[in-house]
Amino acid sequence: MKCVFSPQKRIQSRNPTFSAYKKAVKEMFQMIPISAEVEASSPDRCRTCAVVGNSVNLKKSHYGPLVDFQDVVIRMNQGRTKGFEADVGTRTTHHVMSYAPMKSKIKANKDLVMVLNPSFMRYVHEVWLQKKGLYPSTGFMALVLALHICDEVHVFGYGADSDGNWSHYWEELRNKKLKTGGHPGDTEYAMIKELDQHRIITFYRGW
Ligand code: C5P
Repeated sequence: MKCVFSPQKRIQSRNPTFSAYKKAVKEMFQMIPISAEVEASSPDRCRTCAVVGNSVNLKKSHYGPLVDFQDVVIRMNQGRTKGFEADVGTRTTHHVMSYAPMKSKIKANKDLVMVLNPSFMRYVHEVWLQKKGLYPSTGFMALVLALHICDEVHVFGYGADSDGNWSHYWEELRNKKLKTGGHPGDTEYAMIKELDQHRIITFYRGW
């Protein structure tokens, strides 16, 4: 299954009228499956989740088996497994994506796509990050999503490199001034550590 965060900004900038916005949102929500595939929570079972960010700290971590061991494995954006299995695992049950330019028509199974309500992004920004930065990162939203749908959340692949850049595990960073853009990287990282300290999540810091 893929979760896609709503491209709200794009809808607004393409044709900034309220009726165009409403039409686009209606079309978007027609794509949502009628029944959610996520089971209701129950005292009889424990859904464990791995949330895998794209940090370079996954390199040489050997977290692969630990990631694959969880029921749900959430990856994001350009996160890939081929060639990195020992460190990031092989399974993917959900792939969360933020805004990416797309063709107007693509061949895909719409029943495997979920569009998260744009107000979820606002909720994460206001409630979890106290409005720090311009907007939350895909990874932080995926983590909050996991807290809502999982009984146990294992978090891998979060953390900037020593220069403060959000380097990825699959590439050598060329742009040394990447930083964390409009995302409040430090606040998000501090929140992840705090959640770990309170044993709400288990955070694997990598190498
Ligand atoms: O960079 P990208 O958006 O593909 O990475 C997915 C998520 O992983 C980010 O939104 C961020 O939350 C997290 N990340 C991180 N540290 C990095 C790279 C990514 O925390 N070095």
